[in-house]
Amino acid sequence: MSQQLINVNCQDLETKLKVLEEVQNVAEQCRACELCKSRTNLVFSDGMPSAGVLLIGEAPGAEEDATGKPFVGRSGRLLNEFFEQAGLNRSEEIYIANTLKCRPPQNRVPTEEELVACRTYLNAQISIVKPKIILLCGSTAAQAFIKEDFKISQIRGKWLNLFENIDCMVIFHPSYLLRNHSTDAGSPRWYMLKDLESVRKRLDSYYS
Ligand code: URA
Repeated sequence: MSQQLINVNCQDLETKLKVLEEVQNVAEQCRACELCKSRTNLVFSDGMPSAGVLLIGEAPGAEEDATGKPFVGRSGRLLNEFFEQAGLNRSEEIYIANTLKCRPPQNRVPTEEELVACRTYLNAQISIVKPKIILLCGSTAAQAFIKEDFKISQIRGKWLNLFENIDCMVIFHPSYLLRNHSTDAGSPRWYMLKDLESVRKRLDSYYS
């Protein structure tokens, strides 16, 4: 993909939509790794690029592969419940992307080669959307940007300085929360809600 396409200065929504469409068209033709052979649909994004929050997940699952939209399966439905509880409007305030645009077979964890091959598209999405906040959802997304060893349970919920002029937070992946049902104080689901409430507050502070 041309550097020009990534570096274009996208201020207004119309330009963002147009340039993202161009990037998606390039991604549709991508043959940089084997996943293009087994995918049904490329899963590029969901939400408006005018959103203040960019959430980065891992990779499409079966329902995402079938529909071409990220987080529409069980994990996505749980994520929607948390957004709602925290007062975040998914369609208007959150732009969603994944570290991989194609589904890994049997939902296996992405390989380093696949992550590297797909990174140009994610980098382009970040620089075109230019969100106020980036949420790294789960360990694959977090590891893509944090090189030191970490435990999700220790770094989640902290405001990190990983991107210039963009606040960043690691949050639990909803697939982990699907295996942990408790909502008691101190449980992963309890922390997830606290973290998203903190995102709500931070986002409000930009627009007040
Ligand atoms: N899990 C992810 O990380 N991304 C999706 O789009 C769906 C499930």
